[in-house]
Amino acid sequence: MSKNTGDTVPKIFKIAAGETYKIRRPVLRPGRPPEECLFEGDDRASTLHLGIFLEKDLAGVASFMNNKNPLFEDAVQFQLRGMAVLPQYQHQNLGRELLLEGENLLKRQFQSPLLWFNARESAVGFYAKYGYQTKGDFFMVPNVCMHVVMFKNL
Ligand SMILES: CC(C)(COP(=O)(O)OP(=O)(O)OC[C@H]1O[C@@H](n2cnc3c(N)ncnc32)[C@H](O)[C@@H]1OP(=O)(O)O)[C@@H](O)C(=O)NCCC(=O)NCCS
Repeated sequence: MSKNTGDTVPKIFKIAAGETYKIRRPVLRPGRPPEECLFEGDDRASTLHLGIFLEKDLAGVASFMNNKNPLFEDAVQFQLRGMAVLPQYQHQNLGRELLLEGENLLKRQFQSPLLWFNARESAVGFYAKYGYQTKGDFFMVPNVCMHVVMFKNL
């Protein structure tokens, strides 16, 4: 796989949980056992896994799970998990496209859903660009890095 030269239009599709591991592992859990890429809820029927493709190459993934966080009172809550773009495709708007497509699909299906997630410290600026706010203090996810809860009412 190589850097997108701009000639290829990225396309987003719903994908199976198993497909996401190909991206989650190198981007989010490098050097960690493969089972650390499996998240509880991956196989639930209500979970939405999206993949962004350049031609046939899967370049990035994001998963949206119907999970409630006790920090919020909203009736409909989704958690974004495993948001990841392969390094050679980062900073080419693929993450943005994945996030916005997920938001649109949830908004079409539910009234005023809340989207929340545990954001890596290094990605807080990315989510802030799309109107997400932080809640509470940073905390350490063992073997990974510092995170903070972020959210937005869609
Ligand atoms: C964070 C990540 C998903 C962003 O995806 P991406 O495709 O690289 O980002 P995009 O190209 O869509 O960026 C969209 C905008 O956000 C900005 N941006 C991207 N990553 C950023 C970051 N880490 N911090 C601040 N801003 C960021 C871009 O500069 C761009 O801004 P612009 O529109 O003003 O030019 C991706 O870099 C990634 O997978 N990083 C490693 C894993 C990770 O941290 N995942 C998130 C876990 S919570």
